[in-house]
Amino acid sequence: MPTGRPLGAVILAAGLGTRMRSARAKVLHELGGRPLVRYPLDALATLAPDRVALVVGHQADAVQGAAAGALLADLRIVVQPEQRGTGHAVACAAPAFDGFAGDVLILYGDVPRIRADTLRALLDAHRTEEADLTLATICFAVPTGYGRIIRGADGGVTRIVEERDATEAERAVTEINPGLYCVRSEVLFPLLAELRPDNDQGELYLTDLIALAARAGRRVRALRTERADEVVGINTRAELAAMEASLKAELTDRWMAEGVTFEDPATAYLGPEVTIGRDTVIGPNVVLRGRTRLGTSCRVDGTAYLVDAVIGDRVHIRFATVIEEAEVGADAVIGPFARLRPGTRLAERVHLGNFVETKKAVLGAGTKANHLTYLGDCEIGPETNVGAGTITCNYDGFTKHHTQIGARVQIGSDTQLVAPVSVGDDAYVGAGTTVTRDVPPGALVVSRVPQRAFPGWVARRRAQAAGTPAAKPAPVKKRVRSRPAAKRRTRRRS
Ligand code: UD1
Ligand code: CA
Repeated sequence: MPTGRPLGAVILAAGLGTRMRSARAKVLHELGGRPLVRYPLDALATLAPDRVALVVGHQADAVQGAAAGALLADLRIVVQPEQRGTGHAVACAAPAFDGFAGDVLILYGDVPRIRADTLRALLDAHRTEEADLTLATICFAVPTGYGRIIRGADGGVTRIVEERDATEAERAVTEINPGLYCVRSEVLFPLLAELRPDNDQGELYLTDLIALAARAGRRVRALRTERADEVVGINTRAELAAMEASLKAELTDRWMAEGVTFEDPATAYLGPEVTIGRDTVIGPNVVLRGRTRLGTSCRVDGTAYLVDAVIGDRVHIRFATVIEEAEVGADAVIGPFARLRPGTRLAERVHLGNFVETKKAVLGAGTKANHLTYLGDCEIGPETNVGAGTITCNYDGFTKHHTQIGARVQIGSDTQLVAPVSVGDDAYVGAGTTVTRDVPPGALVVSRVPQRAFPGWVARRRAQAAGTPAAKPAPVKKRVRSRPAAKRRTRRRS
C-alpha cells in the first residue's frame, strides 16, 4: 500500500436542511447534546488528516463556532455562498487544496454516526486498489431518500442516481449511496468542473462525479459496508429523534457492558464523550452531557443534569441535582436539589444539601453546607460547617468579590458574608451575623440587634382590635437565664 501520501478531507455543511423546517442550519441541530457537524470532524480527527476543509454557508459563523475545538491540525473554513448542490460545495473547497496532492475523503455534515475505522477502511481500500475514486455503498431494505448505486454489466459502479431523478426500476435498487467518498485530489478537482445541473433540482450533484470518472476511464471502486447505523443521514426531525434514541441505547448498552447499572436505561441520556466508572448506579431521568466523568461506585438517585462534571469515586448525587463544569471529590454527598455551577471544586467528603448553590467555590475536605445556601466566589478550608441560610454576598453591583473561609470554621445559620472578607481558621460566626470585616482565627464574631421582649403585647393588640378595654399587663418577670454573669451585665438595659 503506498503510504506517505497526504490525506485531505472535505466536510459539507453549508445547507440549511429544508426538510428540518428550522431556522437553524441542520448541522447545528444537536445529537447527544452536540451539534451534528462535530461528529464527522471528530471521526476525521482520529485519522490525523493533513488538511480538512469545512464547507459552510447557512449560518456560517455558528457552524464554524461549532467546529471549534475539533482536534484537527489544519482546518480551513470554506464558504459556499449559494447552495448550488453537493458537487458545487466540494468545488468551493478547491482553492483550499491548492498545491495539495493526496487522497481526499468527502463526508456529509449530516451523517453523524460515521466512525473513524470505517473512514480508515475506505482509505485503505482506496490505496490498496490504487483507485482514483472509491465510494462506500450499503444495502438498505428501505432505501427511501438515498441515491441508488447503479452497476454495469461487469458489476462495477457506473453512476449514482438520486431518488427524485430515478426511474421506477432504479428506485427498486436497494444498494444506496451513504455519501462517503475517497478521491485522488488530482482527479477530483478537474472533474468537478465538468458537473452539469441537469437534474430535477437543477443542482451540481457530487454523485455525478462517479459517472464522470467511470466514463473518463478512471479507476472507480466501491467498498460495501455493513454498518447501517453508521451511515444514516439526518434530513428530518423524526430521523434526528430516531438517531438520538439509537445513540442513547448504544451508549447505555456500552456502559452496562462496562459494569454500570441503569435503573431505567430508557430515561438515561448520555453524551458520547461521557465516561462512567464500574458499579456506579444511575437512577431514572438522568442527563449526562459533555465531558462528564463519573467515578466508580457512585450513585445518582435520579432527575439529575450533569454537564462537563468530574465526579470522584463513591459520590452520592441525590435527587434533582444540577452540576455544570464542576468537580466533586470522592465520597461527597450532593443534593437533593443542589446546584453546582461552573468553577465549583469540592474536595473529598464534602456534603452539599438541599437548595445549596455554588459558583466558583472551592471547598476543602469534609466541609458541609447542608441547607439553603449560596456560596459564590469563595474558598473554604477543610472540615468547616456552613449553617443554613448562609450567603456569600459576592456582588456589589459592579464587580464580584472573594470570600475566604478557613479550616474548622463554624458559620452560624443565616450568616451573610459581605465580600471581600475572610474568616480565619477555627473561628465561630454566630447565627444571624452580617460579616463585613475580616474575622481573626479562633475568634467568635456576632452581629445582632439585641433581643427585646414586650410582655402582654399580643393581648393588648387583640383587645385594641376588638375595641375592648385593655387588660392590665402582667408584671414583668426578671429574666432567669443561665448566662455568665459578665455577659448578663453587658446585656442589661440601662
Ligand atoms: C445526498 C446524496 C445522496 C446520498 C445522501 C446520503 C447528493 C446529490 N446526494 O443526498 O446520494 O444518498 O446524501 O446521506 O450528493 N450541502 C452543502 N451544499 C449544498 C448542498 C448540500 O454543503 O449546496 C451539504 C448539506 O449541508 C448536507 C450534505 O451536503 O450536510 C448533504 O446534502 P443533502 O441535501 O442532505 O443531500 P441528500 O439529499 O441527503
Ligand atoms: Ca442528507
